[in-house]
Amino acid sequence: QDMPDARDDSTTTTTNSAAQAGVIAREVGRRRTFGIISHPDAGKTTLTEKLLLFSGAIQLAGTVKGRKSGRHATSDWMDIEKQRGISVASSVMQFDFRDHVINLLDTPGHQDFSEDTYRVLTAVDSALMVIDAAKGVEAQTIKLLEVCRMRATPIVTFMNKMDRETRDPLELLDEVESVLKIECAPVTWPIGMGKNFRGVYHLLKDEIMLFKAGEEKADGAFEIVKGIDNPRLAEMFPLEIEQLKMEVELVHGASHVFDLERFLSGVQTPVFFGSAINNFGVREILSALVDWAPAPRERDATVRSVLPSEVPFSGFVFKIQANMDPAHRDRIAFLRVCSGRFEKGMKVKHLRLGRDVKLSSVVTFMASSREQVEEAFAGDIIGLPNHGNMQIGDSFTEGEMLSFTGIPYFAPELFRSVRIRNPLKMKQLHKGLQQLGEEGAVQVFKPVLGSELILGAVGVLQFEVVASRLLNEYGVDAVFESASISSARWVSSDDKKALADFENSLGHNVAYDAAGNMAYLATSGVNLRLTQERWPKLTFHATREHA
Ligand code: G4P
Repeated sequence: QDMPDARDDSTTTTTNSAAQAGVIAREVGRRRTFGIISHPDAGKTTLTEKLLLFSGAIQLAGTVKGRKSGRHATSDWMDIEKQRGISVASSVMQFDFRDHVINLLDTPGHQDFSEDTYRVLTAVDSALMVIDAAKGVEAQTIKLLEVCRMRATPIVTFMNKMDRETRDPLELLDEVESVLKIECAPVTWPIGMGKNFRGVYHLLKDEIMLFKAGEEKADGAFEIVKGIDNPRLAEMFPLEIEQLKMEVELVHGASHVFDLERFLSGVQTPVFFGSAINNFGVREILSALVDWAPAPRERDATVRSVLPSEVPFSGFVFKIQANMDPAHRDRIAFLRVCSGRFEKGMKVKHLRLGRDVKLSSVVTFMASSREQVEEAFAGDIIGLPNHGNMQIGDSFTEGEMLSFTGIPYFAPELFRSVRIRNPLKMKQLHKGLQQLGEEGAVQVFKPVLGSELILGAVGVLQFEVVASRLLNEYGVDAVFESASISSARWVSSDDKKALADFENSLGHNVAYDAAGNMAYLATSGVNLRLTQERWPKLTFHATREHA
């Protein structure tokens, strides 16, 4: 008979798994997953659109969602939206560039700014910092960079809007270094600005890329002139080129030389100058992300760290997006793949619940094609439809009991107290807030004394979302009122008695969150400082890990 013996079988299996490991390693190596950190109006939307244009993922400018017109980048996203009845558009954009797979995770800004914005940054491997060169470092950029610093995320910097009157470039670098505490290594240097913006000088390649306004084509190549001493340049713009030579000398003397290791460890950022709206300098950023930014790296979990090239699948949920349509209660959990190969229909273990789940109707994100992707690798994001049983920070594996760490909750900065019009709905209110809290839509605190609940958020829209979801999903008509709280800190200590004393003496301002962690609700910055001084045995944390 033709029955293969056991040994043959095991050889085939070994070969298969070796082949699979090879495929996985190759796929991981060509992935780049990043997010954009910027202050509103610095040019994130414009730049996103240009990145998609360069990759060929979209053909027309002016189509990325987030514009005032509210159009979407491609019809595929709208299809997914329709199909799922959920607004997943532009949450994740996947596209190809130079044989690499790029995942661009949206970091909601403007009125959509929320804790999600912070948490998205725990799911990326690098970040692109966009700064309006006329304004310099702004408030939201500072906050987002702090989040990146928690995991030493490598950062590429883009100084945007050089076609306008901007601040002095050296001064900009100075500000980034002193305010954001990160070394700047200029890679390109601007020649003039505003009406006299001539282009950029590439310090590493010794070539000049000439600026031309209004390049809207995907392949809009700009003319390159080799060598800073090229006589053509002196003919074209003698004044600016003299200025450039002086500045370059200064830059060489005063700033850092690009160092890949320092970039990868998050202590140095390569800086590029350009103009997103003119497509100028955008290709250089994409190349920097492909050439320098890291492929998915190992991630810490409770029992060990997990390598992206490991064959068994694993991942964690970093964001839950609810459907705003009251007819559907669906939510989508965004899962970052950390290892192995995700295949549609595969069975995985939901570790917190100890339950097996079949991942069949999974949403994937491709900007360029209509097809639903059937597989995903480390660095990719998949969307799991769920009915409220997933929480931020939940881990999924093929069975191994491990839980990914480093997906924190952030101390809220805005507070509201909740009141309900109909006291009989108290139970629904608590249930609704408990679930919304677990989902990460808002943070819920119950002060030790008093009966009111306090909600905390980092973006004001979060309260509106919660109010409308309480009404639509739980039938609770809640009224939010301003609360005289300015910040919250989670409190921990090895000294149980100190904790109990703290709770007993400050019961109105000591509260428990939805996961049962103790927090202090400070009435002002001074109040927080004094409290910290008075209770030296307690530690006050601005973030807390998923339970
Ligand atoms: P955001 O997502 O970071 O909030 O910024 P967005 O891209 O929406 O850009 C904010 C404004 O800055 C937009 O103008 C945009 O056109 C402009 N902008 C972006 N990049 C550049 C650039 O390189 N040069 C110049 N001069 N402007 C730039 P807006 O008038 O607010 O909106 P729109 O009506 O043009 O869409």
